[in-house]
Amino acid sequence: MEERESTRSAWRSGRRADGKQALIAAAALATAICAAPAWGQSPPAVDVAAWPALPPQPPTDPKHEAFVDGLLSKMSVEEKVGQLIQADIATIRPEDIARYPLGSILNGGDSSPDMAARVPAPEWLKLADAFYAAARERKGTYVPLMWGIDAVHGQNKIIGATIFPHNIGLGATRDPALIEKIGEITAQEVTVTGQDWVFAPTVAVARDDHWGRTYESYSEDPAIVATSAAALIKGLQGEVGTPDFLGAGHVIATAKHFLGDGGTNGGKDQGDTLASEVDLIAIHAPGYVAALKAGVQTIMASYSSWRGLKMHADRALLTDVLKGRMGFAGFIVGDWNGHEQVPGCTKSDCPIATNAGVDMLMAPDGWRDLFAAMVREVKDGTIPTARLDDAVRRVLAVKVRAGLFEKPRPSARPFAGKFDLLGAPEHRAVARQAVRESLVLLKNAGSVLPLKPGRRILVAGDAADDIGRQSGGWTLSWQGTGNLNGDFPHGQSIYAGIEEAVGAGGGTVHLSPKGEFQDSPDGKPDAAIVVIGERPYAEMKGDLVTTSWSAMHPEDLALLKRLNAAGIPVVTVFLSGRPLWVDPELDASDAFVAAWLPGTEGGGIADLLFEKPDGSRPYDFRGTLSFSWPRVADQVVNVGDVPYEPRFPVGYGLTLGGAPAAQGATP
Ligand code: GLC
Repeated sequence: MEERESTRSAWRSGRRADGKQALIAAAALATAICAAPAWGQSPPAVDVAAWPALPPQPPTDPKHEAFVDGLLSKMSVEEKVGQLIQADIATIRPEDIARYPLGSILNGGDSSPDMAARVPAPEWLKLADAFYAAARERKGTYVPLMWGIDAVHGQNKIIGATIFPHNIGLGATRDPALIEKIGEITAQEVTVTGQDWVFAPTVAVARDDHWGRTYESYSEDPAIVATSAAALIKGLQGEVGTPDFLGAGHVIATAKHFLGDGGTNGGKDQGDTLASEVDLIAIHAPGYVAALKAGVQTIMASYSSWRGLKMHADRALLTDVLKGRMGFAGFIVGDWNGHEQVPGCTKSDCPIATNAGVDMLMAPDGWRDLFAAMVREVKDGTIPTARLDDAVRRVLAVKVRAGLFEKPRPSARPFAGKFDLLGAPEHRAVARQAVRESLVLLKNAGSVLPLKPGRRILVAGDAADDIGRQSGGWTLSWQGTGNLNGDFPHGQSIYAGIEEAVGAGGGTVHLSPKGEFQDSPDGKPDAAIVVIGERPYAEMKGDLVTTSWSAMHPEDLALLKRLNAAGIPVVTVFLSGRPLWVDPELDASDAFVAAWLPGTEGGGIADLLFEKPDGSRPYDFRGTLSFSWPRVADQVVNVGDVPYEPRFPVGYGLTLGGAPAAQGATP
């Protein structure tokens, strides 16, 4: 899959694929074909009656239906096909809409207006207006565009936005009300810059921590995923059935990636999920049931396969189960050229995916040729008219429900252009609360925590003063790399938060990533806070061959041991997108905090590490693991296993007093 990634990352950085890239893409396609069932092999059998049955979701509205019928009757084949294709802003310009009546655009993780790096917020809103105008001015039947963006932990592509903890940390909060609030704030900050659709929440149930997208999952426990995802959708879209639903300041949400993306063999991104149908239903489906009940409007198909069949081609699961049995009345969007991985398909020609039930193809770069191919395939019957009209009806219905036909240009909508909402103090306060509630205290020997702020504190570790590192992937860039603290005008590093807390207490702080200190009576630190952990990554770039941290980064264990040997109490703050095997690091620490990927509010960590100068403790640890922590390197262990023998179980977490963290403690 590496070949595929280099093609994709080349594309995401806006470089056109050259001959070499085309060769790489061909190799990737060959890989995909090999992963497919052998030609003629029948797809895995599905017992539709075994799946959860739900009434049509979102509920249909006769007014909307009539409006959609009227539109459909006026639309040409080209206009209908256009609604089923989504292009990336790296390759489409507003002026292209006149000829290509596409229904949607997106910006992939590395795409931005004019493909510039660090584009200021007003430029995003300007581009949204330009595309809106292009759709308005096009001759023919007017259908508004939808602009999709990966706002997966806040409006994370935009400079100044509030960046929340990634889902793995939110799962540890067990606080749906907080997650709903995060959804509301995210939706508001998205509308500030003119987008109307977010590709969130991920409802993956990650079952193997080698997977590079584990941090996008709330939990290995489907019940935690279901509760958390429903809360985020409610915050993003508003409560289904109320006047607030898809109203001002709300956006269209996406449950992704259907189905079984977190269950692939070996945790390989875009790999093959071999689970039985019973386990697919019990483990990977509950998040979608909750999302449907919360009124989610779109669902994204997964790159992964189920038992050898690519999800983008799995008609039984996409159409018979999701749209039929489970009553999904929104639309299914494909993943980024996900259709290309279907045997017999290319990025610009894939009737198999459309006929299987993918309603809108995410075609970042092949959209022109795909448009021509789909028009041809509708006219020659390869894509039946009934399938075309069903897909278009679904897309139009979502646009009608979201009020897009009535809404004015993006910059005239509520919250649009109110750039001071990006990283507003009240938004940051919620993010800081989320950081506090997400932290899980795994060890606190001798009650070394909380620390007194009036002491001499050494802050060590190469992740201590790096807002990009503490935010992880999907932050300003696709991989979350290349970011400097200056790129986060409304952020605070973990070190800066500690400096603030200690300063208030009259203590002293010394920052030394390598942990150097004066070994003298008045130089030796009273305690060392060592911030270490994973560097940012996204998707397949994060797949691991081992989960042993000391095997990957022995330098961190050496640092902990050296401080420990000097008799300095060591508090380790571990940044990771997943549980990793850290027994040696735990042994070399007096206290150990699983901090996940906390986002821009690094101060939330100091809130829990220090008591106040007056000795009060306004906050306590309340986070509990939503993932099992491994006992040995590369152990794949999940709640429900028999026997179940993790190092720390789901639900584990200490308070400062040493008692188990009770949910509902001081947030
Ligand atoms: C990516 C991801 C998906 C994301 C999409 C658009 O490949 O799989 O989660 O929403 O492309 O960026």
